[in-house]
Amino acid sequence: MDPGECPEFSIARCRKYIAILYENARIFTMSSKANGHINIYDIVKKEKLDFVNKPISEAHGLPNECYNNNKEYSKIERKKIFEDKWVMIGVASSIPKMGDAKPLDLLGIPLIVLRTEKNKIKVYHNVCSHRGYKILQNKCSIKNVLRCPYHSWSYNLEGKLVATPHLGGMDKHESKDFDKSKNGLKEVRSYVWLDMIMVNISNNEISFDEYIKPLKDRWSKFWTENDQKLIIHSKDFGYFKLTAKCNWKFAIENYCESYHLPWVHPGLNSYSKISDHYHIEGLPNRFAGQGTVVYNPRFKGKIKFPCFPNWPKDKLNIAEYVALFPNIMLGIHKDHFYIYWLEPINHTLTFEHMEIYYVGNNPANSKKYKTLRKQNYKLWKGVQSEDLNIIEGMQEGRNSPSYNGGNFSPVMDNPTHHFHKWIATNLV
Ligand code: FES
Ligand SMILES: [Fe+2]
Repeated sequence: MDPGECPEFSIARCRKYIAILYENARIFTMSSKANGHINIYDIVKKEKLDFVNKPISEAHGLPNECYNNNKEYSKIERKKIFEDKWVMIGVASSIPKMGDAKPLDLLGIPLIVLRTEKNKIKVYHNVCSHRGYKILQNKCSIKNVLRCPYHSWSYNLEGKLVATPHLGGMDKHESKDFDKSKNGLKEVRSYVWLDMIMVNISNNEISFDEYIKPLKDRWSKFWTENDQKLIIHSKDFGYFKLTAKCNWKFAIENYCESYHLPWVHPGLNSYSKISDHYHIEGLPNRFAGQGTVVYNPRFKGKIKFPCFPNWPKDKLNIAEYVALFPNIMLGIHKDHFYIYWLEPINHTLTFEHMEIYYVGNNPANSKKYKTLRKQNYKLWKGVQSEDLNIIEGMQEGRNSPSYNGGNFSPVMDNPTHHFHKWIATNLV
């Protein structure tokens, strides 16, 4: 009803109603916090996140609240991004033998990843169903069972609880009041794709097959399924780890664009310039990055890495660098593949893990290719270290209250904007 038509309308009454509305909203916010359901809009103003989703020429990037240390924001991000989405936690080749197991920690969530007797990778919550002891402390090779050190309850590699010593009193290892079959390890939904161990903690996402299809389809023009099976992780120059004193998102948004090449990677830029690159923006929005049309490895010596046998001849100089959100950066080339994945430790500390693969065991591990592998390793370590200084500098910049999330180049920053939009959309 229009207030002007109401005989009882008065400014005082109107104020009273507004006060009641405010109070209700305050109580609702308090109770939702008490329930553990903190709303992102309690921390970041809705209009700031809405701005991220505007067309690139008007948009601002994610606001400072998404980068600076704020416990409540971190809780929401862990739930919405790291529990509700498909996230990478490691590589299957790091536990090569049946029975190999290791503990992992995903932003404080303790997990076990292991290889079963059927040669399958499985992920479990690393917590005993008895009194909650963290079962596995160190990487190991399990002979028979995973035994909890506290009271020796034991689980087989399929997660089944198989032994409960003295559960029913001395020397009685069973009890009619306790059903072992219902108290195994809690399995985490997982999937292995190209050696990446992916998990979806909340078990709420679409299947990984469906999730990855747009990127798989894109790369089917380079890779046949058979070629993909040839990748082998190099044991000597196939891994390095960098520590980034910054929020994990900076690594992804920097990886998405080639705009910074001339200034941050002058070496790389001497033969692969900005103008040799093109943007990649996956739809539906799950990945973004860039590609080059002049990939041509320049290593000392005459020998070259073998290429994927079915890589098309007219695409030998194309390489693509794609960030698969939230925490994976991939590099695909005719002669090697890498996975550069992020392990966020807390809001301002991130471990970056580089895993390098070649086309078969010979280039990956034989003596013949060792010096080549070393050169390639040095190349990528150098490039990623150059980016490290940049992303740590961005973290410092975010302490400025004057920064509004930033303005994008409407032409050069599209893939980075794509990632910001993905975050802004998924936080809600
Ligand atoms: S907490 Fe694991 S056996 Fe008791
Ligand atoms: Fe870079």
